Amino acid sequence: MEYFPYENGALQCEGVSLEKIAEEVGTPFYVYSAGYLRERYREFYDSFEGCERIVCFAVKANSNLGVLGMLASEGCGADIVSGGELHRALEAGIDPKKIAYAGVGKTEDEMEFAINSGILMFNIESRQELDVLNKVAGRLGKKAPIAIRVNPNVDPKTHPYISTGLKKNKFGLPVEGVMDDYRYAAKLENIEVVGAHCHIGSQLTQVDPFVDATRIMVKLIRDLRKEDINIKYLDFGGGLGITYDDEVPPSMKDYAEALKKEIEGEGLTLVFEPGRSIAGNSGALVTKVLYTKQTEMKHFKIVDAAMNDLSRPTLYDAYHKIVSVKEKVEGKVTADVVGTICETGDFLAKDRELPDVQPGGYYAVLSAGAYGMTMASNYNSRPRAAEVLVDGDSYFIVRRRETYEDLTGPESIPAKYTK
Ligand code: LLP
Repeated sequence: MEYFPYENGALQCEGVSLEKIAEEVGTPFYVYSAGYLRERYREFYDSFEGCERIVCFAVKANSNLGVLGMLASEGCGADIVSGGELHRALEAGIDPKKIAYAGVGKTEDEMEFAINSGILMFNIESRQELDVLNKVAGRLGKKAPIAIRVNPNVDPKTHPYISTGLKKNKFGLPVEGVMDDYRYAAKLENIEVVGAHCHIGSQLTQVDPFVDATRIMVKLIRDLRKEDINIKYLDFGGGLGITYDDEVPPSMKDYAEALKKEIEGEGLTLVFEPGRSIAGNSGALVTKVLYTKQTEMKHFKIVDAAMNDLSRPTLYDAYHKIVSVKEKVEGKVTADVVGTICETGDFLAKDRELPDVQPGGYYAVLSAGAYGMTMASNYNSRPRAAEVLVDGDSYFIVRRRETYEDLTGPESIPAKYTK
């Protein structure tokens, strides 16, 4: 099914016209298709048919409560990296027994919150963290379930900023010494070793690095079992890429077939942490053209969304397709699509051939459902955009647009300056 079709002359999300949402909600706004999210989640889950598995959506990709609530209603779990994400996952109704907690810098408060919530497991990234978790669990009179995040030193062949499983990266514990780390963990009184975790990077467009990492993990799990350290959960992390432009990532089915072959007969429960592959192409950022400007060298489309709304182009030089919301627009233009922020790095596209949308018209920036709103900021004191979830013919405002009061509400002026 096509989730962003043109119908009656305008781009829709499922059965709802984006022009209609723009008029009623204002711009910029993020819009997500519940149907697409549901289909991708089910496809992921179903492609591992025959295996015990838990699919933990990576909350960092899209943490909107409405989106998480919809996924929770499908039985989805959560991969979290902070107390804030845990709070969101629980508020959304995600079963704590389906929550895996990664991150190199968990604080004692966050650990306590997660232990008391009864999460599935902590993915441990250092010995010091293990010691602190042991202490916190002891204080609470509980045992904390853990997996060790293994850095397998596999090249994911993706953007350097989103590679995580190389020796030089800060993540996990190096595979060479990890047997010792496990032996150490197994002796700690308030730690229960239950799993092994690895996440080698994001936006992977080949299956081989996943297979290489899985082989390393399976060998490790066998070695651990020989020493009576029994691993129940193998957590593969996330990382499956999507099509932004013309990339051809492996299908979920190919990815699943390749991994299944490696783990057959190991008696493991598989855990996955997909973010982008579920949410990336579920969403668009809709923005209005404010002005156009022709200089000697360039044509600019100045729009009301900016790098504070979608930072991926600025941060990673990432490509996002941009289309006109109105189906038929007269003329084409090669333009830089830029926001209103006072930085040259504030762009959504550069030298892009586009329908020549005039002020008052709308563009939709596609593939913005993952790492879009979650990386938005208030830079230049811009209230953050609204978020809308479409399901069939209905839409829901799942986050209202921020107001000026939201910007200054948490701040205060020391009394001595206001006399
Ligand atoms: N699990 C762990 C431990 C992770 O660190 C990540 C992503 C995921 C799962 C989800 O990966 P995914 O399936 O979405 O590839 N801001 C960047 C992406 C950073 C990804 C960080 N970790 C971007 O906009 O491309």
